[in-house]
Amino acid sequence: MTSFIYNSRAQRVVFGTGSLAQLGAELDALGLNRALILCTPAQRAQAEQVAALLGPPRVAGVYDQAVMHVPIETVRHARQMAHALGADCAIAVGGGSTIGLGKAIALDSGLPVVAVPTTYAGSEMTPIYGITEAGLKKTGNDVRVLPRTVIYDPALSMALPAALSVTSGINAIAHAAEGLYARDGNPVMDLMAQEGIRALARAIPAIHAGTDDALEQARKDALYGAWLCGTVLGSVGMALHHKLCHTLGGSFNLPHAEVHTVVLPHALAYNASAAPHAMARIAAALGSANAAQGVFDLAHAHGAPTALRALGMRAEDLDRACDIALQTPYPNPRLLERTALRTLLQDAYDGIRPGN
Ligand SMILES: NC(=O)c1ccc[n+]([C@@H]2O[C@H](COP(=O)([O-])OP(=O)(O)OC[C@H]3O[C@@H](n4cnc5c(N)ncnc54)[C@H](O)[C@@H]3O)[C@@H](O)[C@H]2O)c1
Repeated sequence: MTSFIYNSRAQRVVFGTGSLAQLGAELDALGLNRALILCTPAQRAQAEQVAALLGPPRVAGVYDQAVMHVPIETVRHARQMAHALGADCAIAVGGGSTIGLGKAIALDSGLPVVAVPTTYAGSEMTPIYGITEAGLKKTGNDVRVLPRTVIYDPALSMALPAALSVTSGINAIAHAAEGLYARDGNPVMDLMAQEGIRALARAIPAIHAGTDDALEQARKDALYGAWLCGTVLGSVGMALHHKLCHTLGGSFNLPHAEVHTVVLPHALAYNASAAPHAMARIAAALGSANAAQGVFDLAHAHGAPTALRALGMRAEDLDRACDIALQTPYPNPRLLERTALRTLLQDAYDGIRPGN
């Protein structure tokens, strides 16, 4: 056993089918009376459902303009609306984009956030925020943005399309996988990471199959895995995989969960020799002989993209992506070598199954 430092975070998690019904009691416990409900345009109906559950005096309004990458204009607009309507908290109903908007509002206003996640991205468990201004996404880590209470109700994720469920689940697996070789890792996070990967690897095939009697349990497993993996992301550092995904998503505007899905097998293959214990744990949790191949096969077998070119990446941008990824790199178990990194990106672009 090596030395470690473990920080726990004060956050309340309410988990289970039907747990959304406890939202009012959870606001009472926090002393909150008037919520601005946040959602994307596509999830307006779910946000209205939450508003109806709370009843008019407790709902300041519904703001349905959350979009990917949290543009500063949207943050300002939502913040003004919260102020004008006298909201004393924000309830984010949705995935990482909506929860990201709640965090950005909290950053300056201090307005507490209650999160009701409907994807598996895991943002609700992290103090990490991102705001896009003048085309640049600024990210930071601030405990003020951490949602106070998280309500995980699998019923709300039943409508998440199967394709997005698979990629979102692998996005969560990526948080846990990198947590297992994080420089500041610890045994508690290792346990959560392995259990999170195991839960998602069990859930993804069942969600993809969509068989009615197994689906509800699979949605529960996936959300449970998302909670564990999100907690890992919020507690220990990220490495090469997240750096590559932030580069490809931020500078080349590729879709978030899909990029994670394509890149993860290659980032794991790159780091395999430098982090053998982590790889053994990832492989065991996936039920595979090899961590990188296990992730690749999980994606491929369930219809997820496995090549960057399928996401709209251009071959002529790979060199620039490599350069950007090498600037201000995150700590990584294996030294970052330009030639090896460029090969990684080419393999990810072509969708090649990693070798042993
Ligand atoms: N800060 C963090 O710790 C952290 C962690 C993970 C992701 N993120 C951020 O989150 C964003 C991606 O989040 P995401 O992958 O959850 O996607 P998303 O929030 O952008 O959602 C994708 C789409 O799916 C829809 N959707 C979500 N849940 C649904 C449901 N249950 N039923 C039907 N439709 C549903 C949304 O309305 C949206 O149109 C990225 O910007 C990423 O940077 C941040």
